[in-house]
Amino acid sequence: MLGSKLAEALTTPHGVDRYVELVQPAFSLRDVRAEVVAVRRATARSVTLTLRPNDNWEGFRAGQFVRVSVEVGGVRHTRCYSPASSAHAGELLELTAHAQPDGVVSPFLRATARPGTVVSLSRADGDFALPDERPDQLLLISGGSGITPVMSMLRTLCHEGYRGRVAFLHYARDEHDVAYRHQLAELAAGHANVRLLHGFTRQPGAGELDGRFERPHLRAAGVDPAQALTFACGPAGLLDAVRATWAQDGLEARLHVEQFAAPAPAAVPDGGHVAGSLRFARSGVEATGTAAPLLDQAEAAGLTPTSGCRMGICHTCTCRKLEGAVRDLRTGEVSTAPDELIQICVNAPVGDVTLDI
Ligand code: FES
Repeated sequence: MLGSKLAEALTTPHGVDRYVELVQPAFSLRDVRAEVVAVRRATARSVTLTLRPNDNWEGFRAGQFVRVSVEVGGVRHTRCYSPASSAHAGELLELTAHAQPDGVVSPFLRATARPGTVVSLSRADGDFALPDERPDQLLLISGGSGITPVMSMLRTLCHEGYRGRVAFLHYARDEHDVAYRHQLAELAAGHANVRLLHGFTRQPGAGELDGRFERPHLRAAGVDPAQALTFACGPAGLLDAVRATWAQDGLEARLHVEQFAAPAPAAVPDGGHVAGSLRFARSGVEATGTAAPLLDQAEAAGLTPTSGCRMGICHTCTCRKLEGAVRDLRTGEVSTAPDELIQICVNAPVGDVTLDI
């Protein structure tokens, strides 16, 4: 550590990183960076990157996410992705990004990533992770791009030689829209304790499950939610149905969920919008408030607040609201407390609001 501090001092004004990255882009004394070593485009919307992180990477627990930063058009953008690889996969890390039509980072990665590309990573984060003491039975449920954290859980368990029962229910539009179809099939074929069932919402009859998640799917999988610990990740509709089923049985404590899509705004009269002005105190910028998330409004005003998932998971966008009321777009709840920390990606202004940005 003393050596690195000395080297930093001797290379002022830019520090060691700036010089060495010219010849070795994945190098950094402190930051986690990773070099893309393989690229796979398994579906029309996804790209799977195999990454080799530098020595600052400390690994992850199956299910956690990392923030990936890239420069697009001269602007640094950050998004959250869950590794899909086993937590015991050694020095390599696999991420799959699903390009959304209005997205920035995932379409960029899908279009441009190639071996040798270098991205910045955060350390792994998040509570949606396999417990250290593995339960006797697990139920993994995913929809669309929500497959990645539970894929990591399944791969990690298989890697460890887990002997308990695992049921994996995955929902997608059709069989061509499953990024890990072959890998899942291989794991299920090679492990007698793994039961895999697909539900295709736009291809009736093609999977083992019909349509969207409903209670009979648990019977089809031979799973008792009271016995299994359940991890579910996917879009809001899937998670709402899962939550409602577990709540009917009083089993909320046996369920862990992570939403992997921006939340649908809560239903409030007139969208809950109250006209007002937005003041970004630190930058001295003012704008007319709209019903959009404060993060979008700050960006539209020319500011670049830090953000990651843009869906209320990672807390990267948390900032101080100095004055005014905001509505949580996920719940519809209005908060009027002054000087409070809010996630600006999932809150919209209600009247005049001042943020410490
Ligand atoms: S950007 Fe992740 S919580 Fe707001």
